[in-house]
Amino acid sequence: MQKQPTSYKELGLVNSRDLFAKAVKGGYAIPAYNFNNLEQLQAIIMACVETKSPVILQVSKGARNYANQTLLRNLARGAVEYAEELGTPIPIVLHLDHGDSFELCKDCIETGFSSVMIDGSHLSYEDNVALTCKVVEYAHQHDVTVEGELGVLAGVEDEVASETHTYTQPEEVEDFVTKTGVDSLAIAIGTSHGAYKFKPGEDPKIRLDILEEIEKRIPGFPIVLHGSSSVPQDLVATINEHGGKLKDAIGISEDQLREASKSAVCKINIDSDGRLAMTAAVRKVLDEKPEEFDPRKYLGPARDSLKELYKHKIINVLGSDGKA
Ligand code: G3H
Ligand code: 13P
Ligand code: ZN
Repeated sequence: MQKQPTSYKELGLVNSRDLFAKAVKGGYAIPAYNFNNLEQLQAIIMACVETKSPVILQVSKGARNYANQTLLRNLARGAVEYAEELGTPIPIVLHLDHGDSFELCKDCIETGFSSVMIDGSHLSYEDNVALTCKVVEYAHQHDVTVEGELGVLAGVEDEVASETHTYTQPEEVEDFVTKTGVDSLAIAIGTSHGAYKFKPGEDPKIRLDILEEIEKRIPGFPIVLHGSSSVPQDLVATINEHGGKLKDAIGISEDQLREASKSAVCKINIDSDGRLAMTAAVRKVLDEKPEEFDPRKYLGPARDSLKELYKHKIINVLGSDGKA
């Protein structure tokens, strides 16, 4: 069956343009939380409604494959109504995370996404510019916003892998944003995907000096940080106390992220911390109550724990509370 084209506007979603402009001006960042199931989405929306925060719902290629794009789109539509039902309508962006081709971005744009990332960071500079331009041209015809990326993050995810960091070169950013027309730019300043961002003994710091240098070149331009989980050690401990084996998992300091949020960083991507919160809660229930076999009895506590984590980020790290 042919997919029916759907505009995000019909779903009650918004693109990221105004949200970013306000966030840059207001010195806060908007949470970009990944989701691929119902409990994650419920936790995100409850947390954002309770804190009155705008939100970016992120869908990776892996999430599309796992959860089915039609279901995800309708979950996002449901999220808009759910937020209203909970008492506070909040701006919701549906964003493609790490789009790796024009075709994928086009498909998302045509099926209800309000924002897409085209990640050409592994290509040569010229090829990254060319691919990003092509996506921007198509997306803007549909009033969909586009995130590009310059520099390579280290870390390993199902679909996003890189062995090494290549920090974003500040000299390139102005040329890149001018040539491509992107609406926001993801940069590499030492964050990375996954739960193992630094080796034991390493100084677990991100390069706020490079961020500052970039901001001087493109003042007020919306900047995005990927790989920004902090890997809360209490969650790692709970996982390990209940049968898990996560060794030397280290994340980004929340203090540094708070600092970055006050600058032109207006979108901060967090996925791994949510995975840790869910896993810790599920492991604890199943370990302590081995007789339990109703998924709601372990996914419910996982959802509660996720919601608290998301609220904590919004209030104490990103500063987006009250900005909906
Ligand atoms: O940037 C990567 C996100 O954490 C998504 O990961 O591809 O495993 O869904 P995933
Ligand atoms: P984390 O793995 O640090 O949560 O980063 C997620 C991310 O960047 C999604 O694009
Ligand atoms: Zn990412």
